[in-house]
Amino acid sequence: MKEKLEMIKAAVLEELKGASIKTELENVRVKYLGKKGELTQILRGMGQLSNEERPVIGKLANEVRENIESLITKASNTLKNKEKDIKLKSEIIDISMPGKKQTIGKRHPLDLTLEKVNEIFLSMGFVIEEGPEVEQDYYNFEALNIPKNHPARGEQDTFYINDSIVLRTQTSPIQIRTMENQKPPIKMIAPGKVYRSDAVDATHSPIFYQIEGLIVDKGITFADLKGTLELFTQKMFGDKMETKFRPHHFPFTEPSAEMDATCFVCKGEGCKVCSGSGWIELLGCGMVHPQVLRNCGIDPEVYSGFAFGFGLDRITMLKYGIDDIRALYESDMKFLKQF
Ligand code: DAH
Repeated sequence: MKEKLEMIKAAVLEELKGASIKTELENVRVKYLGKKGELTQILRGMGQLSNEERPVIGKLANEVRENIESLITKASNTLKNKEKDIKLKSEIIDISMPGKKQTIGKRHPLDLTLEKVNEIFLSMGFVIEEGPEVEQDYYNFEALNIPKNHPARGEQDTFYINDSIVLRTQTSPIQIRTMENQKPPIKMIAPGKVYRSDAVDATHSPIFYQIEGLIVDKGITFADLKGTLELFTQKMFGDKMETKFRPHHFPFTEPSAEMDATCFVCKGEGCKVCSGSGWIELLGCGMVHPQVLRNCGIDPEVYSGFAFGFGLDRITMLKYGIDDIRALYESDMKFLKQF
C-alpha cells in the first residue's frame, strides 16, 4: 500500500509536468482526488486495513493528498503566470513607431460665405425661409409675373420635370410661398440650391446657390432697399465699399436695378477682376411688382416691398479669388484644403 501511494505521488508529479493548460490540471485532480479518484479509493478502503496498518497508511495517504493538492495549486499558479507573460508580451506597445496622421476636415468655401451672409441678415432682423427644389411652374414663374412664352423664361434654361413642374431656376419662388403663408410685415432671406440646364464652363454650373431677400411692409421705399443692401455690402466686404444702382429689368420687380459694389480687389482703381471698371456687379433687386403682391393676396395700395437676389457662388469666387466655378463642385481635396 505504501508503495502504491508513493507511485501515485510520482505519477502525479510526472503528469503535472506535462500539463500546459488549466483543463489538464483539472483532469489530474479528478483522476486522483475526484470522487472516483485513485487516492480517494484508497482512503475509502481504509476500513479493510488492520488496526496497526490503518493509522500509518492513513497518515501517509493524507500526506500524499495534501502533497498532491499543493502540487496542483503550484502548477496552476505557474500556468497563470505564464499566461500573463504571454499576454503582456503580445500587448507590448512600440512607442517609437510613427503615429497615424489624422486629417481634419475643412469648411467648404460656399459654406463659409453662406454663414457670413446669413449672419449679416439675421443681425438686421431677417428670418430664414425655405422652399422645395422641385417646384411648381406657378411658383417659379407664373406668380412671379413670368407667364408662359415670356421672354424671361428663355434666359433661364429650365429643367422641366413635366408641363407644370420644374427644378427651380431661382430662389424667388420662396418669396411667393412666404407671402402666401404670412401677413406683412415680412422680412426674410432664403438661401438655396438652384438648377439651370447650362453647359458647364468656368462661369456656369447646372447647380449653383442663390440667396433671396424680401421685405414687405407699409411704407417701404427704394431708399430702404438702397440702405439695406449698402449696409450688407459693407458688412460683407468692408466699411469703405461703395454701391451703385443701375436700372435693369426683372418681371417681378418695378422698378428693377442691378447693384454694383467697389471692386474689393483693386478698391476701385481698375484691375483684371473688375475688367478695369473699378466696379463689380453683385446682385439684382427692385421694388416688388404690384401684380406679384396681388398674386399673393397682399394689397399693393396698402403694402409695398423690395426684393433682391444674388449668386452665392459668384460672391464666393470674388471673395476668394477663385476663377472657375467648377472648383466649388469637384471635391478636389487639394483645392478645398486651402480654406
Ligand atoms: N431671381 C433673379 C435671378 O435668378 C435674381 C433676382 C433679381 C431676385 C431681382 C430678386 C430680385 O428677388 O428682386 O436672376
